[in-house]
Amino acid sequence: MNGNEVVTIKEVVPEGKGITTLRFELDRTARPGQFFMVWVPGVDEVPMSVSYTGRVKGITVREVGTATKALSGLKGGDMIGIRGPYGRGFAMPKGKFLVVGGGTGIAAVLPAVEMADDKDIVDVALGARNASEIIFEERAENASNHVHVSTDDGTRGFHGTVVAMVDDILKKHSYDQVIACGPEKMLYYLLEVCKKHGVESQMSLERFMKCGSGLCGSCVIDGKRVCADGPVFYGREISDMLEFSKAKRDEAGRLIKL
Ligand SMILES: Cc1cc2nc3c(=O)[nH]c(=O)nc-3n(C[C@H](O)[C@H](O)[C@H](O)COP(=O)(O)OP(=O)(O)OC[C@H]3O[C@@H](n4cnc5c(N)ncnc54)[C@H](O)[C@@H]3O)c2cc1C
Ligand code: FES
Repeated sequence: MNGNEVVTIKEVVPEGKGITTLRFELDRTARPGQFFMVWVPGVDEVPMSVSYTGRVKGITVREVGTATKALSGLKGGDMIGIRGPYGRGFAMPKGKFLVVGGGTGIAAVLPAVEMADDKDIVDVALGARNASEIIFEERAENASNHVHVSTDDGTRGFHGTVVAMVDDILKKHSYDQVIACGPEKMLYYLLEVCKKHGVESQMSLERFMKCGSGLCGSCVIDGKRVCADGPVFYGREISDMLEFSKAKRDEAGRLIKL
């Protein structure tokens, strides 16, 4: 049953600048990389990745506009509506893998780190614009023996983009797969780096979503519905997408340049 369920917020956790996690009980199975359609009463319904997959689920919200601002302002005891989880999540790789999260994308990949069989088969690369936007570092360290951090402005860890840091990591270590979520520009360059090092990848994409369940077509990229065929796609599938990093559809379905 994926229908709408009204849940009560149990806990609100500030994670970093403009980033907040909301925790609530929901007795549904969710896999890393899947997402919910989250209804904020009187405001809007928006897609949010599952940042905690246990019985007490979580979403981690970055304030960018009206709905995310309303979500970030909620308190314990407030109600939201949840549909889902929807979509194709990350397939847990066989062998050793590197999990890469950029900005709020870290929230979508962290459950995959925690699902690894042991701390030695998963390494983690977390990147953000500055130190105040690095989230879930401690959570990553609890699940992996090698957590690398980068900031664009050098305020924490490697000074540069997470993609430049991953390029360095892949020169020294080999992995069977890379799993990633982050801004599309980051994913574009990361895919190039993965191809250069001959590593297969899975990446989570974002497109404008209305129904979230494969019916309306608003999230289509090159004929694929991101909500139902994705949001996680293999690097080899993304390589065939002409709109990847080039164009996306707006709320009215118009194709706009990225
Ligand atoms: C599969 C998926 C998972 C996501 N996971 C997260 C997450 O874990 N945390 C997080 O903070 N954000 C996540 N997002 C992005 C989030 O849905 C948007 O930031 C949010 O919808 C913005 O709404 P707004 O009213 O605050 O801002 P608006 O001012 O309405 O929009 C700001 C920008 O957000 C995007 N956006 C707006 N509405 C939608 C929509 N219905 N579907 C997709 N994009 C939209 C557009 O690019 C728009 O330009 C995810 C998006 C997708 C598609
Ligand atoms: S959001 Fe409706 S088909 Fe994907």
